[in-house]
Amino acid sequence: MRDVCSHAEVRLSEGEVEDGTIECWLHGSCFDLSSGAPINPPATQPVPTYDVKIDGDDVLVSLDEKNS
Ligand code: FES
Repeated sequence: MRDVCSHAEVRLSEGEVEDGTIECWLHGSCFDLSSGAPINPPATQPVPTYDVKIDGDDVLVSLDEKNS
């Protein structure tokens, strides 16, 4: 997932992760970590996500955004 909230330009990585979601620390919108979809307001737009694959000890991240 891109590390920027879709509501304002703040880092999502500073929020809390719980039950497959991340909560934006500024206004409290939660986003589904797999789809980037907002679960509650004030955010209404998804956050772009990226395909990730585990290959042995490596984590491979595609640079193509899935929902931008
Ligand atoms: S900046 Fe993230 S919900 Fe407002």
